[in-house]
Amino acid sequence: MMSEKAKNDFFIAGIKSLKSEKDAVILAHFYQIPEIQEIADYVGDSLGLAQQAAQSKAKVILFAGVHFMAETAKILNPEKMVLIPDLDAGCSLADSCPAKAFTEFKENYPDHIVISYINCSAEVKALSDIICTSGNAVAIVESFPKEQKIIFAPDKNLGRYINNITGRNMILWDGTCQVHDMLNLESVINLRINNPDAELIAHPECKEPILQLADFIGSTTALLEYSQKSNSRKFIVATETGILHQMKKKSPDKEFIIVPADENCACNDCPFMKMNTLEKVYNALNDEKPKLNLPLELMEKARIPIEKMLSLSKKMNLIK
Ligand code: 13P
Ligand code: SF4
Repeated sequence: MMSEKAKNDFFIAGIKSLKSEKDAVILAHFYQIPEIQEIADYVGDSLGLAQQAAQSKAKVILFAGVHFMAETAKILNPEKMVLIPDLDAGCSLADSCPAKAFTEFKENYPDHIVISYINCSAEVKALSDIICTSGNAVAIVESFPKEQKIIFAPDKNLGRYINNITGRNMILWDGTCQVHDMLNLESVINLRINNPDAELIAHPECKEPILQLADFIGSTTALLEYSQKSNSRKFIVATETGILHQMKKKSPDKEFIIVPADENCACNDCPFMKMNTLEKVYNALNDEKPKLNLPLELMEKARIPIEKMLSLSKKMNLIK
C-alpha cells in the first residue's frame, strides 16, 4: 500500500504535468488545505481571486475554492473551461440567500440599490447592482452618496459591521457564514485573558461581540498582511483555519492561535472548503470534470455587477 506521502507526491507530480499539458492555472483560496495552496499558481482572498480570474490567459481555470468562487471565474470567462475539484463544495452563506426569496425581499424596497457580498449565487449576483468582497466592502458602500438607500446581502455580520463603520443604515439580508458565526465569544475572552501580549485579528463575517474586541478586522488577505506588518509576536486569529498556513509561512517566528468554534473543539474548518483534496484536483484536471457551466443569459446579467466592482476597485487602487 502507498504511504500518504507517496500518494501526495504522485498527485503533486501529476498535477504539475497536467497543468502544463492543458495550459491550466490553479487559483486557490486561503482556506484550502496547505498542500493545495502549495501547488496553486495564485492563493488569495475573494477579491484577488476574482481579479486573477478576470486577467487569466490560461485555457483552463481550476478553482480550488467553493462553488460561488468558481461561478465567478466562469462568469468572467464564459469561453474558458472552469473546473472545480468537487461540485458539492457549496457555502452556507450563499445557500442562506435563495434567489426567489431574495427577489421577493427586494420588492419590498423598490427605491434601494442592492450591494451583494461575492459569497452568493450567480442568480443573486444577477439581481444585484454591484458586488463587493470583504476586501473592498467598506469602500464600495462609501462610493455611494450617504442618502443612497441600500440593501446588503447575504451576510448580516459583514453588513452590520459596514453599517457601524460608515454610519449607514443598510437593510440587511439575514444570512451568515456557518464557520465565522459559530466562533465562540467565551473562548475569545479566555484567549485574550491568557494571552495579554497577543493581538486579536478577526474576519468581518464574525459576530459583532467578537468584532468589538478585535484589534484589527479585515479580509483574509488583510489579516495576513497585518500579521506580517504588526510588531506583535502573537495573534489570536478569528477566522477559518486555512489562513494559518500562509501566516506561519510568512512569519515563522510569530505565534498564531486560532479561535475555536466551541470550547471543546478546534473545528472551525469550513466543511465546504475542506472537501477539496489533492486527489480531486488531480482527477478534475485529468478528466476535465466537474466543469462549471451556467446559462449564458445568467452569466451576462451576473457579469455586470462583478465588473463594476472590479473597475471601481481598480480606480480606488484596491487592486492593481
Ligand atoms: P475573503 O477571503 O475574501 O476574506 O473571504 C472569506 C470567506 O469566507 C470566503 O468564503
Ligand atoms: Fe462559505 Fe463560510 Fe465556508 Fe466561506 S468559510 S465558504 S463563507 S461557509
